Amino acid sequence: MSDSRYDAFPAGFFHRSDAADDGQFYAPPRLVTHIDDGAIAAVGALYARLGLTGRVLDLMSSWISHFVTAPEHLAVLGMNELELARNDMARERVVHDLNAEPTLPFAPATFDAVVCCVSVDYLVRPLEVFDEAARVLRPGGVFVCTFSNRCFPTKAIAGWLATTDAQHCDIVATYFRLAQGFDEPVIERQPTTAVDPLYAVWARSTS
Ligand SMILES: C[S@@+](CC[C@H](N)C(=O)[O-])C[C@H]1O[C@@H](n2cnc3c(N)ncnc32)[C@H](O)[C@@H]1O
Repeated sequence: MSDSRYDAFPAGFFHRSDAADDGQFYAPPRLVTHIDDGAIAAVGALYARLGLTGRVLDLMSSWISHFVTAPEHLAVLGMNELELARNDMARERVVHDLNAEPTLPFAPATFDAVVCCVSVDYLVRPLEVFDEAARVLRPGGVFVCTFSNRCFPTKAIAGWLATTDAQHCDIVATYFRLAQGFDEPVIERQPTTAVDPLYAVWARSTS
């Protein structure tokens, strides 16, 4: 990678065992939940506590976005058209491969909030994607990443598979710090009522 910010990560950190086009892996729709009901409720509770509403972008989305109450305008971006079509809260749907093209197809300051649930570990160019999240957020808008302890291992980056849950929080915080346009991130484990743990890292746009 030519972006010198990636020098902060060890060689091979962003390699994946399945380096093929993501379109192949995500072609079959998966109308499933990727975390248990307790973790899903914790994501919704966090979004409610942070007051996420207005224009919201759900990055790496599928058929559920986990809000307790739908934002006024929810845009969902992911890999599978049918999954996004089944997302009842969505008002705008975009099929877009962030690993092929990290630039988001939205104007600056379009959104009040951006969220990304249980998916940040699949990004091979996360710093550009985080730059873009800051660009499409209004000043003071928040980008919230949540994750548990499960993943599609062939599609997750090697650096994620080799590290612990606590280190995952630090990795995502590092993405925020190296990206352009965010305040210092907050790291917080969320209370859950079932088995899956739920971690959140979020920061506000400064630009
Ligand atoms: C584990 S699922 C999580 C879906 C959803 N966010 C949720 O909370 O249930 C991973 C999601 O990441 C999306 N995704 C994976 N690779 C992507 C890429 N290169 N660009 C955009 N989205 C991607 C897929 O479409 C898939 O819906």
